[in-house]
Amino acid sequence: MTPHEDRVVGEQLLTVKDLRVHFKTHDGMVKAVDGLSYDVARGQTLGIVGESGSGKSVSSLAILGLHRNTNATVTGEITLGGVELLTLTDEEMRRKRGRDVAMIFQDPLSALHPYYTVGAQIAEAYRIHNDVSKSAAKKRAVEMLGLVGIPQPDRRVDDYPHQFSGGMRQRAMIGMALVNDPGLIIADEPTTALDVTVQAQILDLLQKLQKEFNSAIIMITHDLGVVAEMADEVLVMYGGKAVENGPTNELLVHPQMPYTWGLLSSVPDITSDPNLPLRPIPGNPPSLLSPPSGCAFHPRCTFAARVPDNLCSTTVPALEQIEGKTFHLSRCHLRDPEAVYHNEVLAEGPAGASAIAAQVAGVLPNAPRHLDAEGGES
Ligand SMILES: Nc1ncnc2c1ncn2[C@@H]1O[C@H](COP(=O)(O)OP(=O)(O)OP(=O)(O)O)[C@@H](O)[C@H]1O
Ligand code: SF4
Ligand SMILES: [Mg+2]
Repeated sequence: MTPHEDRVVGEQLLTVKDLRVHFKTHDGMVKAVDGLSYDVARGQTLGIVGESGSGKSVSSLAILGLHRNTNATVTGEITLGGVELLTLTDEEMRRKRGRDVAMIFQDPLSALHPYYTVGAQIAEAYRIHNDVSKSAAKKRAVEMLGLVGIPQPDRRVDDYPHQFSGGMRQRAMIGMALVNDPGLIIADEPTTALDVTVQAQILDLLQKLQKEFNSAIIMITHDLGVVAEMADEVLVMYGGKAVENGPTNELLVHPQMPYTWGLLSSVPDITSDPNLPLRPIPGNPPSLLSPPSGCAFHPRCTFAARVPDNLCSTTVPALEQIEGKTFHLSRCHLRDPEAVYHNEVLAEGPAGASAIAAQVAGVLPNAPRHLDAEGGES
């Protein structure tokens, strides 16, 4: 496989504009994604973070057209490589899936069929988009397994998924996602099920392949350490909306809104006193059937009382550019959040926030990320 010279790093690849994914249910309309906008450029990684149920997966599945013919209504715009995806026919979308955009799921066992060999499944993914013989497709599967670091790929190509370890299955799934060399890869919690060493190897592999093919990655994760390590930009989601968006080293060091502060403060810090309690965000994520009025975070936000005129509970804050920054968007009514964060939140000493800031600055590698395929440090 040769890298694409036509893929210019930094060129806009994906634009999502005012995306809404609403599910009709017996209890009412679930507004899982409600007016989401963001961009991803070629060769870049966007990290999407947010608590469970914030709409990370649902918004990404919309890019793949996987809500079609379900209880979902999808509106807005999703433009990939200049093509508007939401107006494509099912057949046109099917041809895009796998070829122009592919997904790596958290659990490779649910994505790999247990009755077919790993190689047959990768070969089949290739044959869907390429008119080649079975033997040529199998050769391609061997090539992909080699590329993702499976030892003796010409032998392992005939193994069934259960004969692979968890890490090898995830590698195989990455090979399957990349077999048609898509411009955009969506990785939904790709390493959550793996132990920390294998997780580091998989992240390294993704980064290496991304460089080789100038592909864009959307990395959905709960782990801000992974975001600090992998992402060029971060999008923080809450209740189906973007609440903060900006470059990784800007957003994680100068976060502008209390929900992001909460996420950062709840990160465990391996270098601090293990007896220190974690600081989870109090309360629960909002109901998407009847979300709170105003800022959806207001019932949990300890800073809401500082904002005059009950604005937090009555008026939805707009996602706005922070003054004086090149690109940093935040959705919050609080005045001078930068000073509040540094003088009050950080002053209280939440270890996680400082640890992530240090990781961004390259001072504190959270986990060993430079391991070879066999797990040895390189
Ligand atoms: N088909 C559906 N019908 C109704 N509600 C749905 C449907 N699919 C997803 N939802 C709801 O949409 C919301 C957003 O789900 P989503 O899977 O995007 O969350 P997430 O941010 O990926 O969370 P997690 O971190 O747990 O994976 C959830 O409340 C979920 O229950
Ligand atoms: S808008 Fe108000 S409730 Fe929402 S995060 Fe900002 S201060 Fe908190
Ligand atoms: Mg999810």
